[in-house]
Amino acid sequence: MTDMLVRLYALPAQPRSPLADGIGIHRAMAPERRLVVPWIEQTFGSGWAGEAEAAFASTPTRMHIAVFQDRIVGFACHDVTALGFFGPTGVDEAMRGRGIGEALLRESLTAMRNAGYGYAIIGGVGPADFYRRAVGAIEIPDSTPGIYAEMLFPDPLPAEH
Ligand SMILES: CC(C)(COP(=O)(O)OP(=O)(O)OC[C@H]1O[C@@H](n2cnc3c(N)ncnc32)[C@H](O)[C@@H]1OP(=O)(O)O)[C@@H](O)C(=O)NCCC(=O)NCCS
Repeated sequence: MTDMLVRLYALPAQPRSPLADGIGIHRAMAPERRLVVPWIEQTFGSGWAGEAEAAFASTPTRMHIAVFQDRIVGFACHDVTALGFFGPTGVDEAMRGRGIGEALLRESLTAMRNAGYGYAIIGGVGPADFYRRAVGAIEIPDSTPGIYAEMLFPDPLPAEH
């Protein structure tokens, strides 16, 4: 669960994994909030749904979504739990490996670069290799548990009796 750093001024010009045909990526709009947040809660849990709600609390939103056949298949947030942070992000399990995760990442990081950031931090990373390969992210030493140290986790394991 380390944090990673991305040089926004040196984003790769071309995606490593091209986006499959028929998939669109756009910055989410307020009218989509009540479709997007429940999907995130159902698919990835209440913690990420809370972050998604925060992403919808500004105009423009800090939320990009991927759409396939008129339904949401992925999302990415930025500037949510801390300023300058990318995440959370997730792609429908059945739709992984089609370039959606990388496309969402690049759109979000481009929005952050356009907002004036020089670097982005990917908070509490799971798949470090994905970020390393897609945008040259590097691990930040001593960043675990980082900003999440005192966080109350929303989906605790049931207590043992
Ligand atoms: C991580 C995630 C968003 C990637 O989405 P995706 O749409 O499958 O990713 P892409 O198809 O754009 O993959 C881009 C490249 O990264 C690689 N990659 C994808 N997931 C990876 C992972 N978990 N670890 C290492 N490499 C990965 C792909 O193989 C691909 O490389 P290739 O073109 O050389 O084959 C998706 O697996 C996911 O939703 N995971 C669960 C939630 C999660 O962990 N989110 C991140 C929290 S920090």
